[in-house]
Amino acid sequence: MTGFRFAGSTVLVTGASSGIGRAFAEQLAAQQAHLVLTARSEEVLQTHAAALRRQHGIEVDVIAADLSGPGAAEALADTLGARGITVDVLVNNAGFGKFADFTRVPLPDYRQMLDLNIGALVALAWRLLPGMAQRGRGGIINLASVAAFQPLPHVAVYAATKAFVLSFSEALTEEYRASGVHVLALCPGYTNTNFAQVANAQADLPNASTADGMARAGIKAFLRGAAVHVPGAGNVLTTLASRLVPRRVAAALAGRATRRFAGSA
Ligand SMILES: NC(=O)c1ccc[n+]([C@@H]2O[C@H](COP(=O)([O-])OP(=O)(O)OC[C@H]3O[C@@H](n4cnc5c(N)ncnc54)[C@H](OP(=O)(O)O)[C@@H]3O)[C@@H](O)[C@H]2O)c1
Repeated sequence: MTGFRFAGSTVLVTGASSGIGRAFAEQLAAQQAHLVLTARSEEVLQTHAAALRRQHGIEVDVIAADLSGPGAAEALADTLGARGITVDVLVNNAGFGKFADFTRVPLPDYRQMLDLNIGALVALAWRLLPGMAQRGRGGIINLASVAAFQPLPHVAVYAATKAFVLSFSEALTEEYRASGVHVLALCPGYTNTNFAQVANAQADLPNASTADGMARAGIKAFLRGAAVHVPGAGNVLTTLASRLVPRRVAAALAGRATRRFAGSA
C-alpha cells in the first residue's frame, strides 16, 4: 500500500478527452481529486471539465495540447508552473497505435506515435518527478499494454513503444521506491475506446474490456503499490505465456492473432 489518497490531490491526465483517460478523470473526480485534463480536443475537454466541476465540486483545469509536437510536453509543464498547479499524480495515458503491415503506415505517423507514446511520456515524467520526490508523495501511472510483453508483427512500432513504457516504468519504480513516489505500468488488453478506430483495426477487437473497468483497475493497482498491473485473467495468462516461450515463438504466435486486424490475412 502506498498510503496515498486521491482526495484533495491534483492529478494530470493526458489523453483525457476519450476512452481510458476520460474514465480515469471521471473516477478520480468521484474520489475528490482535483484534475488537469489535456488532449488536443479542447471543446470536448471543456465540456467534460464543466460537468465534473458541477457533479463533484472539484477544481478542473484544461490545457489543450498536441503532445506529439516538439517541446509540447515541456510547454505543458511550463503552463502548470505558470498557473501555480502542483501535480501529485501524472496519468501518462495519451497514445495511439496503427494496425498495418510495417511500411503501409506513413513514416510521419510513426514519428508522431514515437513522439507521443514515448517522447511526451518521458518528458512529463522528467519534469514532474522531481517535485513529487521532494514532497515524498504521489507518482505516475504510465499506460503500457499487453502489447509490451512480446514483439507484435503488424503492430510492430506501437508494441515497441509500449515495451519501452513497461521497461521505463519498472526502472523508475525501483529508482524512486525509497522516495515515497510510486510508478505503475498499467497494461490493458483490448479495451473498448476510440483506439481501434484510430489504429485502423480491420476486425473487431476480441474480449474488449471497458474503459471504466480499466481506469478502476489502474487506480486500485496504484493505491496498493503494484509496479505492473495487467487487468483481466485472460490478459494475465497471455502475458505469462508469452514469457514462457522463446521470443521468436511468441512473436510468431502473436503475429497470427494481429494479422487480421491489419487487414492482410
Ligand atoms: N484501447 C485499447 O485496447 C488499449 C490497450 C492497451 C493500451 N491502450 C493505451 O491506453 C491509452 C489510452 O488509449 P484509449 O484506448 O483510451 O484510446 P482513445 O480513446 O483513442 O484515447 C486516446 C487519447 O489520447 C489523446 N491523444 C491522441 N493523440 C494525441 C496527441 N497528439 N496529443 C495529445 N493527446 C492525444 C486523444 O485525445 P485527442 O484526440 O483529443 O487529442 C485521446 O484523449 C493509450 O496509451 C493506448 O495505447 C489502449
